[in-house]
Amino acid sequence: MSELADRLRALPSFPEDMPGLDPDSVPEDPAELFVAWLEDEIASGARQPHAMTFQTLDGGAPVGRTLILKDLDERGLHVSTHRGSRKGERLAADPRAAMTFFWRESGRQVQVGGEVVALDEATSQADWASRPSYDGSPNPDWQVYALRSRPGTSSPSRGWIASTCASATGASAAPGRTSASPPRRADRPPPHRSRTKRRCGRL
Ligand SMILES: Cc1cc2nc3c(=O)[nH]c(=O)nc-3n(C[C@H](O)[C@H](O)[C@H](O)COP(=O)(O)O)c2cc1C
Repeated sequence: MSELADRLRALPSFPEDMPGLDPDSVPEDPAELFVAWLEDEIASGARQPHAMTFQTLDGGAPVGRTLILKDLDERGLHVSTHRGSRKGERLAADPRAAMTFFWRESGRQVQVGGEVVALDEATSQADWASRPSYDGSPNPDWQVYALRSRPGTSSPSRGWIASTCASATGASAAPGRTSASPPRRADRPPPHRSRTKRRCGRL
């Protein structure tokens, strides 16, 4: 192992006090769980809890960058950018995309995969005009997209995966299959429930 690897391994990971897991209280709609977790982060004062990694495809190759979540409604999770940006061009060629939110203080992660649709001009221009840097100049290239999770997928989570690295002692139950979750894969070990170790589990 390199010296860098040693130092990386020694870095502190999660805080001791993290929210536990209760699969029984997971809402039916995965978007509801996402909003509840996002609200927790906003309430905690964490910086940019609405920032996430946004992945697009470039001829089959994944490309990721950080974007800000602008809204969430029945159309999906909104992001905005220039239509002429690389991601805008990639989305025009292939609308498949994915978001990964990671909230380090709570050890929570949410992944959403699906397809984006370009929202209407009025929505895009309203977003442009609400930006803090808006100086009154129009930007006809500005576009709001909504990522819709895969409604047709066979996965019970419909394109959503929520996971947490809550401490085993804080977990009230091991995450397994819930109405909002995919079944745990048989080739994966079950989440650890020891009193001393922390393991990541998936809802
Ligand atoms: C915290 C953070 C938030 C960002 N939010 C956005 C955003 O909402 N929209 C956007 O177009 N770029 C945003 N960016 C810049 C993108 O990460 C990216 O560099 C830029 O959009 C160009 O990406 P592309 O070349 O893949 O199109 C953000 C960057 C950071 C670090």
